[in-house]
Amino acid sequence: MWKNGGIIRIRDRLLDLAYEAKGKAYAPYSRFPVGAALLASSGRIYQGCNIENASLGLSVCAERVALWKAVSEGEREFIALAVVGGELAACFPCGACRQVLVEFAPDLEIITGQPGQRLLVCSLKELLPETFTFKEK
Ligand code: THU
Repeated sequence: MWKNGGIIRIRDRLLDLAYEAKGKAYAPYSRFPVGAALLASSGRIYQGCNIENASLGLSVCAERVALWKAVSEGEREFIALAVVGGELAACFPCGACRQVLVEFAPDLEIITGQPGQRLLVCSLKELLPETFTFKEK
């Protein structure tokens, strides 16, 4: 799909967009901002940030905000997700987000890191090798 190292460039682009989304995080309770950027198979990229609530359990992760935005726009297939958390060198999606992501994108690529630093790339399958499903395996 992307020629001439384009796959490398799209990872950097996704990480940059996740970093940008982190800047919009509403995280007054944890003070831990997270940003995500989700590439749909349509080519569109959806950004998300964590949004916390005084009733702490109602807070939602950046990854799910990005996914809900995309699914509510009609997207159903996804290629890659970048996550930037605070100042961490790597911030992987939490267990709940992994389960939510696998519903739509079992072959999703996960990218994490900080812009300009070493990228970490893995698959959602590596992070969640077995998953709950109604389907027979
Ligand atoms: N958070 C995310 O946005 N994504 C994750 O994968 C893990 C945690 C958020 C939730 C909460 O607002 C803050 O980070 C601290 O847990």
